[in-house]
Amino acid sequence: MKISVASFLTTISFAALCMGAGSIFTYKPTPVKFLSPKGWPAPAYNFNENPLTKEGIALGKKLFYDPVLSSDNSVSCATCHEPSAAFATYDHPLSHGVNNLTTRNAPSLFNVAWQKEFMYDGRANSLETQALLPMHSSDEMDTNIPDLLKQLNTSPSYKKMFTAAFGPSKITLDQITRALSQFQLTLVSANSKYDQVMRGEASFMLPEKLGYEIFEKKCVSCHTPPLFSNYNYENTAITRDPHLKDNGRARFTGNSADSLKFKVPSLRNVALSFPYGHDGRFYSLLDVLMHYRTSGQIPLSNFEIGQLTAFLNTLTDSSTLSNPAFLPAQAFINNKTPNHTHQ
Ligand code: HEC
Ligand code: HEC
Repeated sequence: MKISVASFLTTISFAALCMGAGSIFTYKPTPVKFLSPKGWPAPAYNFNENPLTKEGIALGKKLFYDPVLSSDNSVSCATCHEPSAAFATYDHPLSHGVNNLTTRNAPSLFNVAWQKEFMYDGRANSLETQALLPMHSSDEMDTNIPDLLKQLNTSPSYKKMFTAAFGPSKITLDQITRALSQFQLTLVSANSKYDQVMRGEASFMLPEKLGYEIFEKKCVSCHTPPLFSNYNYENTAITRDPHLKDNGRARFTGNSADSLKFKVPSLRNVALSFPYGHDGRFYSLLDVLMHYRTSGQIPLSNFEIGQLTAFLNTLTDSSTLSNPAFLPAQAFINNKTPNHTHQ
């Protein structure tokens, strides 16, 4: 374990401070190293600004699953980002917040460490700013921040966890968003059948292999492996919904050239995150692929659609999805840290 001089000194001074006050409390979070899967690009997240610690990740997980974050204690992050749906919303095109439906479909949260911009229009430029958006949105969590801070600061269990992660100061909104980031950063999906095939540990069945070849010709320019997105904003001939009136990236940039451009979503675990598209208008992979065909964007035969679907199913990462470190109940009961240390 590597302890920097700075954190060592912090440990000492906090210990001294607390002992002076008659307590023997020491603040010494356990560093956790983020390891990129082999062959992947370097993550975009700056871990120096928010170093992962076992305590920070555990706190972030508790907050992620806790409806205390919403105004009426009914909605947690996981209400819309359900672990069983690869942290997207299962079966619903739009998700239910405290007052209303959201106007977009909740995306999966795997591999956020590699993203620089968030939301379908890219309007959040960091994971910490992103977390404030659902809290501030009246449709989503409508959080009363002073009230939330008061509740957390008077909760003995939260007080203990925040102190372990960030030291014995008053709990702040900044600490909340940092902890939420730490948990989300551990959500790394890199062990699907596709990955196993690439590592030479498994082989595709014939339809999967043919689908992979079609995918390489027609899809990788946008859904670029290994993340299955180039994280650009693209117009894929999606028509504007007359009720939602969503102009995509133009809504944020104000630039008409960005009209109806949406962030290219990753296709990892895509079989589980239906419905699809920024507003969940496509109920199945078949619907998405038929859209590419009928809009004239990408010519696809029935045969190719079948093979592509077989390939897309190989992106499901069951072992990661069932990792208890990511799931709500009983996690960390054995002090297990998330298994994100693929090498
Ligand atoms: C009421 C449903 C709802 C709740 C609650 C919610 N989200 Fe989301 N989340 C969404 C939707 C919908 C989007 C896409 C919004 C957009 O593109 O404008 C989203 C987007 C995101 C993204 C961006 C992902 C990407 O690929 O760009 C992250 C990260 C995220 N949410 C994390 C969280 C966290 C952390 C919380 C709790 C503090 C949370 N969400 C609460 C529905 C929700
Ligand atoms: C020009 C870039 C581009 C190309 C090429 C492309 N896509 Fe997409 N894809 C997108 C964008 C952008 C979206 C999001 C649309 C939206 O938000 O409404 C998307 C969405 C999807 C979705 C829905 C995912 C989700 O979580 O909502 C699937 C599935 C998909 N594409 C599969 C494919 C396949 C298979 C191919 C090749 C036949 C392909 N795409 C080619 C840009 C592209």
